[in-house]
Amino acid sequence: MTMTTQIKSANIAIDEAAALIKRGELVVFPTETVYGLGANAFDKEAVAKIFEAKGRPQDNPLIVHISSLDEIENIAVDIPDGFYRLAEKFMPGPLTAILKKSRKIPDAVTAGGDTVGVRMPDNEYARELIAKSYPLAAPSANRSKHISPTTAAHVYEDLAGEVPLILDGGECSVGIESTVLDLTSDIPTILRPGAITAEMLLDIVGEVSENGRVIKVAKAPGMKYTHYAPIVDTVSAKSIESAVSEYDKAEAQGRNPVIIARDIYRDKISSRELISLGITAEDYTRNIYGALHDAEKKYGYIIIEELHGGGLEQSVMNRVKKAAGGKSV
Ligand code: TXA
Ligand code: MG
Repeated sequence: MTMTTQIKSANIAIDEAAALIKRGELVVFPTETVYGLGANAFDKEAVAKIFEAKGRPQDNPLIVHISSLDEIENIAVDIPDGFYRLAEKFMPGPLTAILKKSRKIPDAVTAGGDTVGVRMPDNEYARELIAKSYPLAAPSANRSKHISPTTAAHVYEDLAGEVPLILDGGECSVGIESTVLDLTSDIPTILRPGAITAEMLLDIVGEVSENGRVIKVAKAPGMKYTHYAPIVDTVSAKSIESAVSEYDKAEAQGRNPVIIARDIYRDKISSRELISLGITAEDYTRNIYGALHDAEKKYGYIIIEELHGGGLEQSVMNRVKKAAGGKSV
């Protein structure tokens, strides 16, 4: 069934758009990512019109767009604290959070699933429309499988005759769809990457999974070095003098220490336990992991000589710092 589709400037037509939404009609609205094809998220008949207009498969769930966090309680339940921390930083913004769905949200929105995507667009027209009507279930305002629209004209090309009103808010500022982050899994998981990156999310939540890879944030200085660590206490030493004095302290405490260092220091190390790394930076690099493997089997405390040059010395120090958890004496 076709109808006349009007394009109106968003700054004059919000009230008209809100009235259409309240009557169970569709409205296209601008967001910072791409244009959305919205319907009252609590009205299953209105939501059904979205799928029809787009030719969208029924098994693909829709995002619910909100204008204020006050609206969240009618949309989602069992909301984790992490959501509110993320919301403080990224909402409004190009982030969609997947949460456990409220019973008030019809199955048509979530494709029968028990989770719901929620996002607060960073666009004043979108938020004003929502505030004056309802939270809006909305996919991108393109025909299914076509490119997402970033101008009102793009929308018109795809959906003329399918929707009564397109609110023109100019060009979308971000231009790709929101980051979709699942907060119902043990580790927050990026289902669709977007302008809010894993690194940005890590500032707020401790770990994020992306493409099957878990990225963790440093909880305290040095925590980011804990990969590749031996199973016994390990430090690095800024100088051989410092290595020797750390050794003697540990020895006095009965900690069974060892120094891992280049052969040039054999004299200074004297009768203390030493695992030699050879002479050059290349020797050091080739031998370091083997030395750590050996040391953790035989000793209770590992002290590694640091190198302070560039190039290869710097690269191998990256691994030594990780082994030592950032602890340097
Ligand atoms: O930036 C955006 O997110 C735009 C604007 C309009 O907000 N919307 C958008 O909607 O891109 P859509 O429907 O084109 O894409 C939504 C994506 C789909 O891949 C969908 O499967 C996923 O989000 N999605 C929605 N609800 C979900 C849920 N409960 N669980 C997992 N994925 C969900
Ligand atoms: Mg889409």
